[in-house]
Amino acid sequence: MKILLIAGSIRKDSYNRRLIKWAANSLETKGCEVRVADIGALPLMNEDLEVDGTRPAEVEAFRDDLKWAEGLVISTPEYNGSMPGVLKNAIDWGSRPPNLFASRVGVVMGATIGIWGTVQSQRDLNAVLHALNVLLIPSPFVRLARVSESFDAEGNLTDVIGLRNIDLLLDRLIDEGGRLLG
Ligand SMILES: Cc1cc2nc3c(=O)[nH]c(=O)nc-3n(C[C@H](O)[C@H](O)[C@H](O)COP(=O)(O)O)c2cc1C
Repeated sequence: MKILLIAGSIRKDSYNRRLIKWAANSLETKGCEVRVADIGALPLMNEDLEVDGTRPAEVEAFRDDLKWAEGLVISTPEYNGSMPGVLKNAIDWGSRPPNLFASRVGVVMGATIGIWGTVQSQRDLNAVLHALNVLLIPSPFVRLARVSESFDAEGNLTDVIGLRNIDLLLDRLIDEGGRLLG
């Protein structure tokens, strides 16, 4: 299965980028082809940048990754009770006709230093992905709270339950995704 992974943070030491890196490695060992999207390079959504059916090169590269993908893994922080603008911006570019999120199988996870584990951010992200016809696999929930306490000095996640749930979620993406995609 071809899987595109997207972190909803472009911060160098981002916890969500670490989760995406971990998930990408794990998916490769499970036999998937993976790509990790570079959403930090995307310009802000502006219809003026869509000229005669072409878009900026960074946008076309991101859309090519979406076109290639059968499955999606998105790990998002929470910014002010919702998803970060940088992630919504990327989704908006990918949604332009033809909507390249349609019929992809997707899973969402998230990490925050806060206590509610990105519940609100994931609620909004799920709603947007649902509107774009992503086939979402909802559980097990991966909502890592107080995440700054969950990494060791080498940057490895030490949250055993969190790791187990990510692993289960990725297995379900592959199993159910394969079934849904036929
Ligand atoms: C603008 C902004 C708003 C934030 N709002 C929330 C919030 O609503 N809930 C929360 O749990 N954390 C919030 N945080 C803290 C983030 O969870 C924290 O910075 C986290 O480490 C970001 O994810 P990253 O490590 O992947 O970059 C906010 C951070 C920023 C910069």
